[in-house]
Amino acid sequence: MQTSKIITVTLILAAFAGGIYLGKGSEGTTVITNSHNGASYSGGYDKTLGQQSSSTKKSAVSVRSQEGQTHVVKSGDSIMDAVKAASPGDTIQVMPGTYHETVYIDKDDIRIIGVIKQGKRATMDGKGVLNDAILYSGNNIVVENLLITKYKGNGIMGQAGNNFEIRNNIIVDTGIYGIFPQLGQNGIVEHNVVSGIEDAAIYIGMSDNIHVAHNVVFDSVAGIEIENSRHAIVENNYVYNNTGGILAFITPGLPIKTTFDVIIRNNFITDNNTANFGAPGSTVAGIPAGTGILVMAADEVIIEDNIITGNKTAAIIITDHENAPNTTMDPGSDPVPDKIMILNNLMANNGYDTIDEVKALMLTEFKQDNPDIIQVGSSRDSCIINRHRYVTVGVNDWAECEFTNTSEIDSYILDEPVAARVIAGSEKGKIAYLGVCAGCHTYTGRMIGPPVQIIQALYMDNPQGVADYINSPTKKRDDYPEMPPQNYLDAETRLAVANYMLQVKS
Ligand code: HEC
Repeated sequence: MQTSKIITVTLILAAFAGGIYLGKGSEGTTVITNSHNGASYSGGYDKTLGQQSSSTKKSAVSVRSQEGQTHVVKSGDSIMDAVKAASPGDTIQVMPGTYHETVYIDKDDIRIIGVIKQGKRATMDGKGVLNDAILYSGNNIVVENLLITKYKGNGIMGQAGNNFEIRNNIIVDTGIYGIFPQLGQNGIVEHNVVSGIEDAAIYIGMSDNIHVAHNVVFDSVAGIEIENSRHAIVENNYVYNNTGGILAFITPGLPIKTTFDVIIRNNFITDNNTANFGAPGSTVAGIPAGTGILVMAADEVIIEDNIITGNKTAAIIITDHENAPNTTMDPGSDPVPDKIMILNNLMANNGYDTIDEVKALMLTEFKQDNPDIIQVGSSRDSCIINRHRYVTVGVNDWAECEFTNTSEIDSYILDEPVAARVIAGSEKGKIAYLGVCAGCHTYTGRMIGPPVQIIQALYMDNPQGVADYINSPTKKRDDYPEMPPQNYLDAETRLAVANYMLQVKS
């Protein structure tokens, strides 16, 4: 059912009406464009706006407000106790051993550094009962070298913290999201190995200025997902055996409504054919197995120099909201993916066992070969080079790109850390809603939890009821997972977020 909606018959008609001219581009001279030495992309994020610019690649973003102390946590001790004892600037060294706990970091400038000794790591094991391994709401947080396994919710989740570094962690069989910075600016996710995740292994949610590089991501539903975020580079990752490899999305119904300026380059995106095991009804449950890259409603997405092979549905699917499964429309979001730019890429052996809806769409262009690039619905101002290399559908009216590479852009990480997010008392509810609840609830549609509209109807005049529920949720719906308790939030924040959730309008 999930894939059956991806392309409907009406769409096929729309493709004709939209003027996809049969056969165009298949005759005449082939335009061959060398991706090297050509013009570079001159768009993207302008770092000189408000900041000093330098061309050096940034590999760290956290700032130390002062040289702090080091707290050593040994097997049998609690990491959380060390966090409680720590002051901003401190480092917590976690020695090899097994830790069975949830760590919540609500202060700034804390580094959690696992110590790896002869291959033995500090291991956080949720034993299938705990929800989250590491949650942080502080700024300038570093989490490195941990092994995290068997949690039900998140491996590492950021809730509105800026300037984060999540590096060198191994996250295995851990619930819904592996690494999930939500509502953060200026962050690096690199050199992690993430597998066995029911939703997104690496999920960048509602964030800005992000660098996701050198990660290995496999056996998950979504590999790397850039959602309702801007100025993100996803490069040099190895993404295989997921249902969908790399996604750039606008999820409707979230408080931040856009995704744009995303560069997906130099990744290996191979054999993402794992049967979809996402929670039924969730957005990612609609991804057809065998999708290399999926762009949904996002704008200004550059796809460059990736090696995309062995993905059975297609190498790249670009869709608007209307034709995507499991999505609702959001009046606050433009549903159309605009300015998609496909530069040089190696695509081979994709689309060899594609879905019927794609086959039907191909027939509108009288094609029966295995598809590489599929564009469903409309898209404005998109461009491509060397289109003759690929089997495509829906891109005949795309222009030639006026540039051939992004070599002028190293990183969207800022040269100076952004200011720590300071949350005024009156903003507590809003920030907790954006930073925590919006990870699982959208306004109109089903995400992990039920739509906020439904919750508003249930709890209209009862914010205390919501505050009590999130403190210790009970199972209410057979067809949803359990909601994890949010009891690490203090009572004041729980009530503030309840009030905010009950009055939010989109
Ligand atoms: C990890 C995902 C997740 C997060 C984060 C989350 N929820 Fe939920 N929520 C769920 C799920 C799943 C359900 C459905 C549970 C059920 O019906 O048994 C749910 C249900 C609810 C309900 C419905 C209770 C009822 O009586 O039907 C409320 C209220 C709620 N969540 C509020 C919140 C608030 C407020 C936040 C943020 C502080 C939040 N949730 C964060 C997953 C989440």
